[in-house]
Amino acid sequence: MNVFINKNIPEAGIKLLQEKGINLTVNPTESVLSREEFIKICQKNDALLNVGTNNLDEDFFQQCRNLKGIALFSVGFDSVNIPSANSRKIPVGNTPDVLSRATSDVAFLLMQSVARKSFFNHKRILNDQWGSFDPLANLGQELYGKTLGIFGLGRIGFEMAQKCKVAFGMNIIYHNRSRKEDAEKELDAKFVDFETLLAESDVLSVHANYTAENNKLFNKNTFAKMKPNSIFINTARGKFQNEEDLFEALTNNIIWGAGLDVTNPEPMKYDNPLLCLPNCCILPHIGSATYEARNGMAVCAAQNIIALFENKKMPYCVNE
Ligand code: DGY
Repeated sequence: MNVFINKNIPEAGIKLLQEKGINLTVNPTESVLSREEFIKICQKNDALLNVGTNNLDEDFFQQCRNLKGIALFSVGFDSVNIPSANSRKIPVGNTPDVLSRATSDVAFLLMQSVARKSFFNHKRILNDQWGSFDPLANLGQELYGKTLGIFGLGRIGFEMAQKCKVAFGMNIIYHNRSRKEDAEKELDAKFVDFETLLAESDVLSVHANYTAENNKLFNKNTFAKMKPNSIFINTARGKFQNEEDLFEALTNNIIWGAGLDVTNPEPMKYDNPLLCLPNCCILPHIGSATYEARNGMAVCAAQNIIALFENKKMPYCVNE
């Protein structure tokens, strides 16, 4: 079996694949392949180990007729047209669990960074504006006993809620497609409708899988329903937010602050006005960027490919 890996991944995954005698083509260039180059190589392979957000749409599947399986190097699978994969019986695998801690760590980091204005205060030093101690300036807010609203109580949302509960004794409310009764008990969390989530959260953190029906769900109308002291956190997908509306909400004190690890599009341009706001902290999609998580992702993706090679069900299949 011939497998194309479109960007180098940690050795732990490569080794597993090589031990099985799988023939690998790893994109040798540091640069991102054009869509044409990417499709051309996929056409010559039996499976793809896909790193990043290449759009694996109907056109891709039509052009890459030899593909028998796709292993994503991500937990999110919004880049794949799942009905197109299904209609061709192509299994698609992802990398759940291994990045939940790392990603929720970044949500927690951003929450605190926004609450204490840490990016803004760092910029003050760089701009030679440290100045003298001022009892009234640069004040943040404490999170003890406040309400954390989780949008999407999956593995990452659960980890975030657990950290916030232990660190700050936060009350947990959540909105999800279905109730999660075990998690509710463990976190002492309350299931609420979306409107209540908006109205009651002091921190609202997005952890759901992105689907088109949630496109720009966080917009002018929804920000207007949030508390003026509230903090919006997104470590899931940038498409959940309308960034022009977020800019308006942050500059007009509709909400208090925002922390984003994901933007739309990515990469965000360096001159995006959101980057200049004192109440907005933005990171370049580093949720899973730890040695531990990336090694785990490499192993999961390799296990998915190996299962395909051995005519078994992928252990982390999202569409069967
Ligand atoms: C994921 O795994 O979906 C992360 O966003 C990294 O791409």
